[in-house]
Amino acid sequence: MIPLYRKVEMTLRRVTVWSRFTASINMLLQGSTILPANKLQGENLKAPRGRSLWLALFWELWERRLCVLRVLITGGAGFIGSHVVRACIKAGHEVLVIDNLVRGRKENLPVRVEFCRLDIAVEKEYEALKQVFRSFQPEAVIHLAAQVDVQVSLKQPLVDASVNILGLLRVLEACRAIGAKVVYASSAAVYGQPVSLPITEDHPVAALSPYGLSKYMGEMYLKLYEQQYGLNFTILRYANVYGPGQDSTGEGGVVAIFTDRMSNGNAPVIYGDGKQTRDFVYVKDVARANLLALNKGRGETINISTGMQTSVSELLAQLAGILKWAGGTIYAPARPGDIYASCLANQKAKRILGWQPRYELKEGLEDMLLGT
Ligand SMILES: NC(=O)c1ccc[n+]([C@@H]2O[C@H](COP(=O)([O-])OP(=O)(O)OC[C@H]3O[C@@H](n4cnc5c(N)ncnc54)[C@H](O)[C@@H]3O)[C@@H](O)[C@H]2O)c1
Repeated sequence: MIPLYRKVEMTLRRVTVWSRFTASINMLLQGSTILPANKLQGENLKAPRGRSLWLALFWELWERRLCVLRVLITGGAGFIGSHVVRACIKAGHEVLVIDNLVRGRKENLPVRVEFCRLDIAVEKEYEALKQVFRSFQPEAVIHLAAQVDVQVSLKQPLVDASVNILGLLRVLEACRAIGAKVVYASSAAVYGQPVSLPITEDHPVAALSPYGLSKYMGEMYLKLYEQQYGLNFTILRYANVYGPGQDSTGEGGVVAIFTDRMSNGNAPVIYGDGKQTRDFVYVKDVARANLLALNKGRGETINISTGMQTSVSELLAQLAGILKWAGGTIYAPARPGDIYASCLANQKAKRILGWQPRYELKEGLEDMLLGT
């Protein structure tokens, strides 16, 4: 049951967002070239190819449907989480973040975001977690909090499961009690060694690490909760995410690792021949996918990717060009168990979420390194 004061507050918020949009339309009518909606979105408003700015504005309006929600984001102080938080705030949503700050940082969060330092893996903190859900009454929960290091999962599978399985279950129980939708951050790691490329969502799952397995178990729990309790969810399986604020450890950190090394004057290390490929998706595109999944994709599992393979050598060449690196490369033997080629199909994301990446790799790297 949503308290009356919350309903009043949401109505006021909707009016504010609507008035910002009408202001944009007025400016267009007066022939102004500035689109305030661009600033609202925090990135360039890109008109779908071959359409006018008018249509682009209405496209944007349609994408957002002026829907203002209370969104609770677990892991919101982390790399992807902090971008998701900013995207939600720009869209006018009310946001509360739960994070234990084991990897995330409070400075990553905009000042006006409500924050609760809680550990979803700790039984003693479960009551407090439920209390936060009861008082904030989120309509949607974006669940990003996780143990994200594949090597940790291999060395300490119990630690991995305590966050990625038991922690998720505590979040799901809290969602069940208030009927919130869950947008779940899953991973390409669930697929394991690909048998065909590009990997579609119905490709067999065969995780190669406890991390991949725990992410998949999370997906299974969501489906069971839907079946048993009518939970509304959308699963997003991210490819290799890169962008500002990424740690050089954790999942998919090769862009951050190369950047760190070159910025500190150290030669980057390539394991193997450098021809191994990955699907690098920009974090701002991932944040936008999360935003769209708040209202779309009920019960669906969707890849979030570029659908393009980029070799590690190609990535390095692009980074070296932007950073003007001329210090060479170290080649080391390939690491056993590394996947040679990977790329996720993204047609389902286009069809169901109306999402497609806006950043090509070069654009994403420039945005990240030069702020263009
Ligand atoms: N980065 C990628 O390329 C990638 C790819 C696929 C999936 N993912 C998924 O996206 C999500 C976010 O990943 P990220 O790269 O931003 O990692 P991250 O480590 O930057 O973010 C995870 C956040 O969760 C918090 N956290 C960890 N354990 C917690 C706990 N027990 N209780 C509360 N908070 C906790 C951390 O402090 C951190 O802020 C994860 O679920 C990850 O599995 C990431």
